[in-house]
Amino acid sequence: MKDLTPRKSDLDPIEVASRDEISALQLDRLKWSLRHAYDNVPMYRQRFDEAGVHPDDLHTLADLAKFPFTLKTDLRDNYPFGLFAVPRDQIARIHASSGTTGKPTVVGYTAKDIDTWASLVARSMRAAGTRPGDMVHVAYGYGLFTGGLGAHYGAEKLGCTVVPISGGMTERQVTLIEDFKPSTIMVTPSYMLNILEEMERQGLDPRKSSLDVGIFGAEPWTDAMRREMEQAFDMHAVDIYGLSEVMGPGVASECVETKDGPTIWEDHFYPEIIDPETGEVLPDGELGELVFTTLTKEGLPIIRYRTRDLTRLLPGTARSMRRMEKITGRSDDMIILRGVNVFPTQIEEQLMKCEGLAPHFQIELTTHNRMDVMTVHVEPCPGFTTDDAQAASVKELSHHIKSVVGVSTRIQMHGEGGVERSQGKARRVVDNRPKER
Ligand code: DLL
Repeated sequence: MKDLTPRKSDLDPIEVASRDEISALQLDRLKWSLRHAYDNVPMYRQRFDEAGVHPDDLHTLADLAKFPFTLKTDLRDNYPFGLFAVPRDQIARIHASSGTTGKPTVVGYTAKDIDTWASLVARSMRAAGTRPGDMVHVAYGYGLFTGGLGAHYGAEKLGCTVVPISGGMTERQVTLIEDFKPSTIMVTPSYMLNILEEMERQGLDPRKSSLDVGIFGAEPWTDAMRREMEQAFDMHAVDIYGLSEVMGPGVASECVETKDGPTIWEDHFYPEIIDPETGEVLPDGELGELVFTTLTKEGLPIIRYRTRDLTRLLPGTARSMRRMEKITGRSDDMIILRGVNVFPTQIEEQLMKCEGLAPHFQIELTTHNRMDVMTVHVEPCPGFTTDDAQAASVKELSHHIKSVVGVSTRIQMHGEGGVERSQGKARRVVDNRPKER
């Protein structure tokens, strides 16, 4: 793999500023953001008043803990534009996340917000090792999802040649990678596995492809998966994090020289980790729920947004800004199986240890005799197709899950291609338990 560490002189000065400078900037911006939300969004004014706090009560960054949280349901309850802080005609773009139930969550950006977002995605891409002039294949979905357009504007801002292919039509993705020779690909890690499979199906050697960097995000993925991708494509695989309520991709992103968890772009987003049960702010280093406050967003300022993502805050390494540990799960995705908490990433990690199994998987939950049962659907790697080889792989996976994760699972082996393939964000858990229990 090439050394793609960016030159220090190419970074934004704030990326390497002192902690004191970063904190001073955050405090100034936080005061502005609280004031902006309070003055322009009725929900925030009401919530702050009810909690007996006012933007003028913020004297230090720690004072933010006095302010109330914002939840996903608040966006739903104020559907569609109730939390916008500027008149609708100053909103340059709308995005929305589909959500599994009910109305989508709608977010809005002013022209300045779009420009800030593009700059932060450009910064994220530079951290990943992408350079002006590189060609970037964007296979995140375009449309209301923030992935495609978010990546697109960032790549343009960095000065790249963008291929806006969006998700799907995997055969054509492979053709264009072969013909256009992009050096960077931006895509969900689960869809990248599809592209890998398609390359192999076409008899191509992925290690000989033009790709030097994969910028993967929008769903949890493990370091085991990183090793698999880096090995398969002979490229760097880095993690990009974000969520539409806070902006989209590029809230935090990994640096290619360290690959030790996404650096949070703290000049625009203030992170906190809280105890999800009590709401209490936890010190850096402790595991809890990630909460974000936007510092510069005009269209949709968001104050103490509970992401449901579980991680910890870590000190800066390649940059002075803090990092977050690679996300292993959302509280929403946690399966409680006979008292044991299980995240799909833990299953992924064990699956990756089994040489005979392909990296595609899906977890199904059912009940048997009123007990929850977890079945992991898997399929063999090409070449591991004999009954004996498959039986050995099933036994191996079941053993790893039992001994490392601590739960007994059923493993169901399918034929090649038998496990549902992702076109964007993978559907890792299918809950087939009866609704009324
Ligand atoms: O997924 C934005 C995005 C697009 C990020 C492309 C990165 C790349 P939403 O659809 O609003 O936005 O989903 C946000 O996805 O709260 C996490 O649970 C999850 N997520 C996003 N990035 C990562 C990541 C986009 N790198 C939700 N690792 C978030 C783990 C991630 N989970």
